[in-house]
Amino acid sequence: MFLRDRWYAAALSEELAGKPLARTILGEPVVLFRTDAGAVIALEDRCVHRQAPLSLGTVIGDTLRCGYHGLSFDRTGACVRVPGQRAIPPGARVRAYPAVERQGFAFIWMGDPAEADPATIYDFPYATRAGWRALYARLYAKCNYRLLIDNLMDLSHLAFAHATTIGSMGVAENVDMKVERDGDRVRVTRWMLDIAPAPAHVLATNDTRNVDRWQTIEFTPPGYVWLAVGSAVAGTGIRDGRRDGVLLDRHSLHLITPETQATAHYFWVMTNDAAQVDRTQERILYEQSLKAFNEDLTIIEGQQQRLDSGRPTVDVNADAGVLQVRRVFDRLLDAQNVA
Ligand code: FES
Repeated sequence: MFLRDRWYAAALSEELAGKPLARTILGEPVVLFRTDAGAVIALEDRCVHRQAPLSLGTVIGDTLRCGYHGLSFDRTGACVRVPGQRAIPPGARVRAYPAVERQGFAFIWMGDPAEADPATIYDFPYATRAGWRALYARLYAKCNYRLLIDNLMDLSHLAFAHATTIGSMGVAENVDMKVERDGDRVRVTRWMLDIAPAPAHVLATNDTRNVDRWQTIEFTPPGYVWLAVGSAVAGTGIRDGRRDGVLLDRHSLHLITPETQATAHYFWVMTNDAAQVDRTQERILYEQSLKAFNEDLTIIEGQQQRLDSGRPTVDVNADAGVLQVRRVFDRLLDAQNVA
């Protein structure tokens, strides 16, 4: 079940160059394309003539021409040309979805178009912040999208799933954790003082001293998770607001979009302060993070297969954020179903 009247990340901006892009979102086939003038358009990926995928067609100006018999559709989904005839048949139209490009992503509204307000698109200011650099990625997961959100809301797993990259045992064992709700947002704050640095941290900073490490994880429906993470030399007072020992201070956004009930698109943008992290360090952190995400996918896709058996699970203290997110989803989905 999906929340429909929401903006979802549909593509990275860099994916929308040249050919139309086929993407299934919330179970619906969508074609995204960029007009010659640069606007991002999203239409149903199904020609009204004989249902060929429009994503196999060609962008001409601000229209998309079907690759089978050449009917052309404008940004509203209306058929505007039929080869060999002047009249456009009544009802010759495909669904158009509101789409907006922002901060390196194309966002799509899958619900009632009348409710689509671009002002409610998720804002991640670090993606375009002066003096900061952003690196993007897209992954694909064979699991329900909510398992990816669970994964992000409980970062204790870094100690075990990512012991060779972004985790160390202190991330699971030495944690002072707080969970807060702010409307539909859930925020988990984790402090880990005087712990061993993760291998990725040592690779990027060449510093093996113990660290005070923090992770703030904020979930916003339907699938946005903002991670503010960093580390300072242990004992230099970062938790009291002193900044002189800071080694890394980073922000990333994870954008989880259901493809189907059983699969998901996973978009990501990692940002760093260019004055703190040079391009070599940035590349190390990017690659180590992606390696960790792929480790996650292996576990989560296996987890999905086991969960499909319907056997019960148990909860532990580290699940506090996960459980809060589940309550938010339950409430929002119940409200949607009543409406
Ligand atoms: Fe598209 Fe015929 S199926 S024009």
